[in-house]
Amino acid sequence: MSLRSLINLRILLSVLLILILGGAIAIWQARQSVERELRSSFHLVMQMVKSEVNQADMIRDNDDWLQSIKALRHLRHVQIALIDERDTVTEILTVSEREASRKPPAWFVAAVTTDYLAAEYPLKMPDGSVRRIQISADPMDEISEAWGESQAYFWSLVLMVGVIFLAINMVFHSMLRAVGTILSGLRQVESGEYDGKLPSIKISEFDAIASEVNNLSEALHYARQNNQSLARHTLHIQENERRHLSRELHDEMGQSLTAVKAMAVASKQADADVGAIADSIIGICNHLSGVVRSMMRTLHPLSLADLGLGATLVDLVSEYRRRHSDLLVTLDYDDSLELLSHEVAIHVYRIVQECLTNVIRHARADSVKVTVTHSHSDDDDQVVINVEDNGIGGQAEGEGFGVRAMRERVENLGGRFSFESEPEQGVSVKASMPFIEKQQDESKQD
Ligand SMILES: Nc1ncnc2c1ncn2[C@@H]1O[C@H](COP(=O)(O)OP(=O)(O)OP(=O)(O)O)[C@@H](O)[C@H]1O
Ligand SMILES: [Mg+2]
Repeated sequence: MSLRSLINLRILLSVLLILILGGAIAIWQARQSVERELRSSFHLVMQMVKSEVNQADMIRDNDDWLQSIKALRHLRHVQIALIDERDTVTEILTVSEREASRKPPAWFVAAVTTDYLAAEYPLKMPDGSVRRIQISADPMDEISEAWGESQAYFWSLVLMVGVIFLAINMVFHSMLRAVGTILSGLRQVESGEYDGKLPSIKISEFDAIASEVNNLSEALHYARQNNQSLARHTLHIQENERRHLSRELHDEMGQSLTAVKAMAVASKQADADVGAIADSIIGICNHLSGVVRSMMRTLHPLSLADLGLGATLVDLVSEYRRRHSDLLVTLDYDDSLELLSHEVAIHVYRIVQECLTNVIRHARADSVKVTVTHSHSDDDDQVVINVEDNGIGGQAEGEGFGVRAMRERVENLGGRFSFESEPEQGVSVKASMPFIEKQQDESKQD
């Protein structure tokens, strides 16, 4: 069942219940008021008839008492009848002025009618006969009045409930329209269309949801762009890496091998200086092993599995110190880093490597401090990397991918990354990632 039908059904049931209850209350009130009114009129007439008849006791031979009682005919809600000895009603003393239009329906009369009062008063006539004055309640006037009041009460109730029904319906209508707008926005996001924006909605709560949907689609749009450019950059790096390797192989290995071959051929000559040739070949081999080591470090830090993270970081830092003697690089790390899983350790290594490369490329610093620590807390162990230089500082926004890739690495593991810099105050890169320990089988492989 749709929300609209459900709401309409509920409201309709509530309206019916209110009307039934309201009708029942109206009838109960009418019944009470009719009974009260009749009782008081009846008692009043009884008192007056008694007093008239008692006063007329001495002068019963004239008709003054009868005239006095007839004067009571104008009192409402009571019927006075004179009954002779043969139980025949000789006279009814009431004035009935009921309008036909105000006549209540029979069901209403039945609903408000109770047992009404009646009484008889005997009267000795001068000729010795006994007549009776019969007084009985006549509720029809009062019931007509109550019917009028109940109708007014009932219709005002209907009007009020109708207005409330309309107002609730209008509110729900605009709420459902807002829900429809938000749903269409979510469907667009689901189908990968992140350009559309939801319009602002008058109801503030829905407007907040709509602006969250807009933020979500903007974030997804940005993430998709980021992913696309990262993927392009990865391919670009891959191509560069291959080009670099083939150049290294060609320039270094190819030429060195050619030289070794030429020396081997020369050593065959009768007058060859075999000792000098052997020294040259040893020099070329030393050079080649340096080239191969540097190529392997670029491809993958093999020592990470062999020596552990601490020693690999020391090796990396020594390489930077060797190549950039004017830069003071300090490294601090916790011994417990050796427990770190390979997956996290490689991220730590790459982040430190990228930070040091950035310092060389952009910072113009003369010192850089690298710390990699293990922070313990009750329910959360983190590996925390901090690289601070004293260079010119700079902003990470730009064409480069290094900072973006570091952030991706950290956030993919559920960690936090920050790049902070003030002009001439250097750059401070902080990254913290969950400290995931090596599994048993991973340690064995290592
Ligand atoms: N230590 C630093 N000191 C000063 N500026 C820095 C530092 N590190 C990064 N930056 C600034 O942040 C920018 C982005 O760095 P990022 O590493 O993302 O790109 P890149 O180094 O230019 O290129 P690559 O994609 O090859 O890493 C740099 O262009 C530079 O302006
Ligand atoms: Mg970089």
